Amino acid sequence: MLNPRRALIAAAFILAVFFLLSRSHTSTSSAPSSSERHDAQAEAAAAAAAEAAASQQRAVPPPPPQKPMIDMSGMSTYEKLDYAYSYDIESKFPAYIWQTWKHTPGEGDFEFREQEASWSIEHPGFIHEVITDSVAATLLQLLYGSIPEVLETYHALPLPVLKADFFRYLILYARGGIYSDIDTYAIRSALEWIPQQIPKETVGLVIGIEADPDRADWADWYSRRIQFCQWTIQAKPGHPVLRDIISRITNSTLTLKKAGKLSSFKGNDVVDLTGPAVWTDTIMDYFNDERFFDMEHSKGKIDYRNFTGMETSKRVGDVVVLPITSFSPGVGQMGAKDYDDPMAFVKHDFEGTWKPESERHIGEIQQELGDLQLVEDGQQI
Ligand SMILES: *[C@@H]1O[C@H](CO)[C@@H](O)[C@H](O)[C@H]1NC(C)=O
Ligand SMILES: *[C@@H]1O[C@H](CO)[C@@H](O)[C@H](O)[C@H]1NC(C)=O
Repeated sequence: MLNPRRALIAAAFILAVFFLLSRSHTSTSSAPSSSERHDAQAEAAAAAAAEAAASQQRAVPPPPPQKPMIDMSGMSTYEKLDYAYSYDIESKFPAYIWQTWKHTPGEGDFEFREQEASWSIEHPGFIHEVITDSVAATLLQLLYGSIPEVLETYHALPLPVLKADFFRYLILYARGGIYSDIDTYAIRSALEWIPQQIPKETVGLVIGIEADPDRADWADWYSRRIQFCQWTIQAKPGHPVLRDIISRITNSTLTLKKAGKLSSFKGNDVVDLTGPAVWTDTIMDYFNDERFFDMEHSKGKIDYRNFTGMETSKRVGDVVVLPITSFSPGVGQMGAKDYDDPMAFVKHDFEGTWKPESERHIGEIQQELGDLQLVEDGQQI
């Protein structure tokens, strides 16, 4: 039956395909082979159609298109991002699940079928997209065409792990929803992540704690005393934390590029440039930012002490911080409880062993990972 909803979805799909195909025919840029382009664009079209379907399904208005071009030359990256995607705290969390990997689940050699399925099973009605590298590039071109330095940064990042990190912030900033690494299992639906007593229209970002090491020598193993995890994040579009981290990564990457230092970039700088260290710093700075928080009447600076030893979730402004058990259950340390705990939401599959950060992401990179290897060992103690 062609009910109105399906008709709309079909129309959106056809329009998206038509749009992308016509673009690919008129485009003369040097690009990957035309069949690759075609695949990527067809997949991006499917993603766009899926997006239209998601909006229909949830009875929320479709995501606003990018605003018309204005003269942005005098604007900082932060201001351009703010202009392109505004933040509405009262909007719903979009029903998207974004993941990235080298291939899609449709391909025979997809290695994470069970993990990927757990997300679909726990989230009926959500749009679930596994984005490959080539689709990511096309999608970002559509979402960030008006902010060229962001695209330049994405293409300049020299390692797949860095691109994967950057992509998650970019897709959540533009579209919102959940990002989760491809090797994670959903234990509980994201509809249960935010405690019932906290109204969802007062929350724009949900994060978990990755590490809370209270040993005296923690700095030998972790980059921050409290580390927020970025393998699973839920956000509403336009969230200021994402706006800030995208600006920071853009600035530091292009600064390295100008200095000719990107090519000598080492694996163990990942944590600082795009990974948990800059993620944690950005969030902590947000909590202490007088543009967003009334610092005059607050009870002092917010730092790791406000989050250490947490057993239930905690709200700071519009951010819900989940305890270590939520995204790191079963690690057997730092107070994390087991998979069957009611607060256990996502299981990160380390295949029985802790992997260095860089191997948790898209793209296979074989490289020396001095410091990260130490983190791995440290976490097993
Ligand atoms: C990075 O930010 C600093 C301080 O705002 C600025 O002076 C510099 O030009 C920026 N660098 C790049 C490459 O955008
Ligand atoms: C954070 O912790 C400090 C003490 O370390 C305390 O004074 C302050 O009230 C806490 N803030 C919040 C929002 O919990």
